[in-house]
Amino acid sequence: PETGCLSIIVLGASGDLAKKKTFPALFNLYRQGFLQLNEVHIFGYARTKISDDELKNRIRGYLSSGNEGAVDVSKFLQLIKYVSGSYDAAEGFLALDKAITEHETSRNSSEGLSRRLFYLALPPSVYPQVCKMIKNYCTNKSDLGGWTRIVVEKPFGKDLASAEELSSQIGELFDEPQIYRIDHYLGKELVQNLLVLRFANRFFLPLWNRDNIDNVQIVFREDFGTEGRGGYFDEYGIIRDIIQNHLLQVLCLVAMEKPVSLKPEYIRDEKVKVLQSVVPIKDEEVVLGQYEGYRDDPTVPDNSNTPTFATMVLRIHNERWEGVPFILKAGKALNSRKAEIRVQFKDVPGDIFKCQKQGRNEFVIRLQPSEAIYMKLTVKQPGLDMSTAQSELDLSYRQRYQGVVIPEAYERLILDTIRGDQQHFVRRDELKAAWEIFTPLLHRIDNGEFKPIAYKPGSRGPVEADELLEKAGYVQTHGYIWIPPTL
Ligand code: BG6
Repeated sequence: PETGCLSIIVLGASGDLAKKKTFPALFNLYRQGFLQLNEVHIFGYARTKISDDELKNRIRGYLSSGNEGAVDVSKFLQLIKYVSGSYDAAEGFLALDKAITEHETSRNSSEGLSRRLFYLALPPSVYPQVCKMIKNYCTNKSDLGGWTRIVVEKPFGKDLASAEELSSQIGELFDEPQIYRIDHYLGKELVQNLLVLRFANRFFLPLWNRDNIDNVQIVFREDFGTEGRGGYFDEYGIIRDIIQNHLLQVLCLVAMEKPVSLKPEYIRDEKVKVLQSVVPIKDEEVVLGQYEGYRDDPTVPDNSNTPTFATMVLRIHNERWEGVPFILKAGKALNSRKAEIRVQFKDVPGDIFKCQKQGRNEFVIRLQPSEAIYMKLTVKQPGLDMSTAQSELDLSYRQRYQGVVIPEAYERLILDTIRGDQQHFVRRDELKAAWEIFTPLLHRIDNGEFKPIAYKPGSRGPVEADELLEKAGYVQTHGYIWIPPTL
């Protein structure tokens, strides 16, 4: 691996994302030895005028220390320096550059590299101006070699036009290989496993198509509402918050063809092709919901039309998937918290057990919680009778990989940005294709032409969503439920 001076600059250092996700991820990387003490320096940048110590105190509580963690935490905090300044004036960024340069030149590192990673934990509205400042005042010193990279978070725009505008503003300043668009679902263990499962197993190769698969569901459920984030959420809604990015990325990995090799560009090429094959969404294949009480949040307008729940069918027009509905479903304030991919197979042809009640085969990838991969199948009920029952082949991570710590999504993705691996990041053309799919529907919702149905918090969401599921061909198995094994 590359060595030499590495500066990680967290812009928006005093904000929520930085505190809750970015710094804890950096801390975990540090603890595992990925951030070398004599190479790495972390800079926090924000408008608030506070001291180094005040920033550290704000962060400290979010760093989970293990048994002997206290020492680690204080050592890690020593790596951090705070610089305050505005997001649109040269002054602050000149000071930032000076601080980074001091760090780079004080180390006498033989490599002499100048590697600068800018993490924008900021609202997207300031991305263009901040990128301009970085470009003008803070890029790596070319005589030292190295690189400058930019990490950005969703929301990347609100629709096709605004996303494209944002992309071209940033694109004028930095080249695509310098830009890392984070979708943290791509950092989840079981999402990353999809590529291996699909393309390293003979089991799935012949079955993974319209001849065998009846329907696919990609589901995200949360059992809490928009608590404290109503203002942000109301501007975006569940489709922009979850479906257009997280669930669609998962869909790509489930549906794409085999890439030429593991080279990140080949993988991203295949994802783009899937997105471009999605046909326009039909109104009658969409159900929107809004939980009762959502508008009680003082930051949410009383007449808000924003969906907190959506179920919709996406159809992929290609040889492999023609006729197979991909059902995307996401909701807040539901009766459970989980995310999973559920691939349901067709009925057995010429079924000689038909007289006995049985379910369809399903291949389920439980992303969270209780990470697992299981196959639901029909077996003989143990005993003297020749009767059938539903059961499963179960690879539950907690049981199979005891003692293995599954890394946090952000931890893994930040490490990729340092290593220069863009496989798990969203490419510009991918983003564009994703917005193309949802923009017409989103505009209709924004214009109030498409209204969400009210549902009770703590419920399954509107019953209309279950009806849509059934219409799309999903058959629910009754009297069977997979229970994650306990240890
Ligand atoms: C974020 C959304 O991107 O993902 C949140 O903005 C959501 O609304 C969160 O709660 C879910 O992430 P995870 O990793 O908890 O499934």
